[in-house]
Order: sequence, then structure tokens, then C-alpha cells
Amino acid sequence: MIPFSPPRIDQKIIDEVVDTLKSGWITTGPKTKLFERKLMDYSGAKGVFCCNANTNGMELFLRYLGIGPGDEVIVPAYTYCATANVVIHLGATPIMVDVLDDFTIDPKQVKQAISERTKAIMPVDIGGLPANYEALWDVILASKSLFKPNGDAQGKLGRIALVADAAHSIGARVKGELLGRQADAFVYSFHAVKNLTTAEGGAVCFSLPDSFDSSEIYAWLNTRSLHGQSKDALAKTQIGAWEYDVVDAGWKCNMTDLQAAIGLVELERYEQDTLPKRKSIADYYQNYFQIQPWALTPILKDQVRESSYHLYLLRIKGVSRMQRDQIIDRIFAKGVSVNVHYKPLPLLQAYTSRGYEIDDYPITKGLWEQEISLPIFYDMTDGQMKTVVDAVTSSVLEVIN
Ligand SMILES: Cc1ncc(COP(=O)(O)O)c(C=O)c1O
Repeated sequence: MIPFSPPRIDQKIIDEVVDTLKSGWITTGPKTKLFERKLMDYSGAKGVFCCNANTNGMELFLRYLGIGPGDEVIVPAYTYCATANVVIHLGATPIMVDVLDDFTIDPKQVKQAISERTKAIMPVDIGGLPANYEALWDVILASKSLFKPNGDAQGKLGRIALVADAAHSIGARVKGELLGRQADAFVYSFHAVKNLTTAEGGAVCFSLPDSFDSSEIYAWLNTRSLHGQSKDALAKTQIGAWEYDVVDAGWKCNMTDLQAAIGLVELERYEQDTLPKRKSIADYYQNYFQIQPWALTPILKDQVRESSYHLYLLRIKGVSRMQRDQIIDRIFAKGVSVNVHYKPLPLLQAYTSRGYEIDDYPITKGLWEQEISLPIFYDMTDGQMKTVVDAVTSSVLEVIN
């Protein structure tokens, strides 16, 4: 069976993890701090805070911004549940809007959804393709007079925050630049299936305006990820530094050095090795499917954006949801694992029970019904790529003819 997205676990990763185990320091410590510094250099963000998942990183950052009950956060209907779940955890309301046919949030729909309760917009770089940040900034700046700040951070910001769910998009580009400063924050995921993994993990790459002190933001996030404890375990090992306070009833979602050890190896080889390999697989699919009359291919690169090649989101022209599901079954039967990204939020019980309805999001519905994600992973061979396109083609033709 050709897997969908296995991690690349080689001797280098194993050696670095073993080195960490032998170092005697396995929780948050020097490797996590080094990984944060390297991510800062890589992304160009003003500050980077690592934690145990993208989900908790997004939630902590929204908490830093003081978002809570009575507030609204605009999210796309086409995303993974984490984007909206964190808004619910805060007691705020996710306002869902439809996407464009490139799968990213539609800035025109965002504009219409803004109210005086809107505190943040969370675009999702789905599959690795950046959302249209320029258009989203235009919408945010045009709505400044509506904004009603609540608390210090919102007062200083004086506008809606742009917090990107960048779970898929490490390594993506806008106008040739890596994602780091084009939004108030980009929150990456290092989950096991992601382009760059730490087994589980996430990073908040934040770049708030210069009136904010990035080291204070880092300290706030770091403290809240450790129960609100004023000192982390490493700081407490210094002479005379055992005593600490708990400044807030915080959470527990720190990254460990075991995770960071994997991340350090992954990041070191990401630009020169991992990303080009993923691109070559996506390009192979693109060249093949672009000339199939039944295929709708994703945007991997346009004049402004370049994907991180996280997912290859193929669509099959004109098929119903039932036909799409039949095609998937046939592809699996031919030994190829495929996936669907994602079942839209307004089809999930957690959201239908809150009153969201899929018919309010026609583009999302149409994209999802015809979507099949194809395998991309570092160790994929040329033979496996050919097997994938053959299995997809024959399965599609069996169902649509
Ligand atoms: C779009 C999107 N957002 C958020 C997440 C959550 O990431 P994590 O598992 O690191 O919390 C995922 C994970 O698949 C995702 O695909």
C-alpha cells in the first residue's frame, strides 16, 4: 500500500533524539529555545514561540489578544476543525465565510461578515497555498472605524487582528518571501503528517506592530503554556532560583526538547532537500493531471504566491459526492492511500448543532464534493508516483464512464 504522508524518520533524526535523551534534559530546554531561534531566522517573524500543537498556539495567541465571550472571529468554512474549535474554547463565536475556488478564504465574504464584534480574521493557507493577505489587509484597514477594542492588546492594535492558521504552509511564499511578517501571526503545525514534523508541535511566528514588545509577547505565551508559572523548569535549575509564582491560571502545552530535536533536523534540511522533493512530486502530478479532461488541478504557484506543496488537492470535474467516494474506494483497492481535505465545518456535528448549514457555503460545498488529496512524502519513489496517477486515472474512468 502506498501511504499518504509518512514522516521521514532516518538515522539523523534518531541520533538527535538519542542525543537529547542522553543529555538528561528531555522537556522544554535548550533545544526548544534553539529551534525557536532558528524558526525566527527562517520565517523572518519578530518572535517565535513553540508549543505542543498548532491548535494550542492559535488559542494562546488569541488569548493574548484578549479575545473572549461576545467577540467574533472570522474563519473559512473550508478548514480543519481546529481553526474554529479554538474560537469556541475562548467563548467567542466563529463567523464562517465561504472560500474562493483556490480553497482560500474569500476577502469579499470577509468584508461582509465584519461587525463591531469582530476581533480577528483567521485565514487558512489550505494545502500550503497562502491566502490573499493583501486583500485581507485592505478589508481590515477599511473597517478600522468599526473596531471596538477590549483590553490592552486590542487597544494598542486598534484594528482587527490577522492570525493565520498556517498549519500547512511552512515554506510557502508571497512575492518570493517566506511567511512571517505578512500577518500578525502565522501559526505552523508540526504534526506527524506535516511538511516539517516534530511528531506533534506548533509554532506561533508573530509580528505585531512595533508598539508591541516581542519579548513581552513571548514571555506571556511561554508562561501561559506552563500553567502560568513565572519560571520554567530550566530557569529553576539556576542557583537560588527555585522559587516561582503562578501569575495566571494557565494551560499546559509546552514543546519538549525531544520534539525540538526532531524539528532541528527537519528545519536544517527543509529548504534544500524536503521542499524541493515535495515540489517535484506536486509538479509531476500537475503535469500529468493538467492535460486530463476530467481533472481540475490546484494552484501551486501564481504571480504572487507559491505553495509549500503540503497537499495536492485534485478535483474531479462534474462528479457527485457519491461518485467521488466510489473513486476513492477504487483508488484504495489499487493500493494507494488518498484522503479528503477537509469535510467542511458546516457538515460536522459540532457545528451543525450550533446552527451552521453547508448550503450557506456553496463554493466550499462544491470543492469538497469533488476533492481527493493525493500522497506526497519525502521517500516517495518515481514508481510510486506513477502508480498513484495510474490508480487515480483508471478509478476515475471506471466511475465516470
Ligand atoms: C488547517 C489545519 N489547522 C490546524 C490543524 C491542527 O494542527 P495541530 O494538530 O498541530 O494542532 C491542522 C491539522 O491537521 C490543520 O490541517
